[in-house]
Amino acid sequence: MAKVVHLEPIGQDSSVETNGNLLSVLLNKDLDVLKECGGRGMCATCHIYVREGMEAISPISRREQRTLEVITSCKPNSRLACQSRVLAEGITVELPPGMYVNSLQDIEALVGRRAEQPMLHPITGQILVEEGKLVTRSMLKQLEDSPSFKVGEFFANTSGA
Ligand code: FES
Repeated sequence: MAKVVHLEPIGQDSSVETNGNLLSVLLNKDLDVLKECGGRGMCATCHIYVREGMEAISPISRREQRTLEVITSCKPNSRLACQSRVLAEGITVELPPGMYVNSLQDIEALVGRRAEQPMLHPITGQILVEEGKLVTRSMLKQLEDSPSFKVGEFFANTSGA
């Protein structure tokens, strides 16, 4: 039987079959979830906060726990939507603010403009560009040189793990 999940901050409801995951709830609403790891529980791009109804969601697996530990914006009510199965009614989830980027090209496209929302690292959720900040070439260069932005490498090393 379908269960209704409430989504914030958009203030909308979406339904999913019992045992369906929260990622499909987000995708039902056309929310632009990057799914950087392909729904394997290894990135930050489907990170959500559970405002209500944590007991109505399947328990956290070890892999999910490990991934949550590296997400800088993680809180006690954090979950990964792709790993969270809906078991009962009464769930309200909140999407963290910001936009995940999966390559530096995403940021490059904004050079000379101000970021309309925080731009976030797809694995750690770390803020790469703050909201309202002017995106410059030197900022891009800095990110390019930073060891934390090696997303391709990260997945190459962990595939099948
Ligand atoms: S899509 Fe990567 S953890 Fe859910």
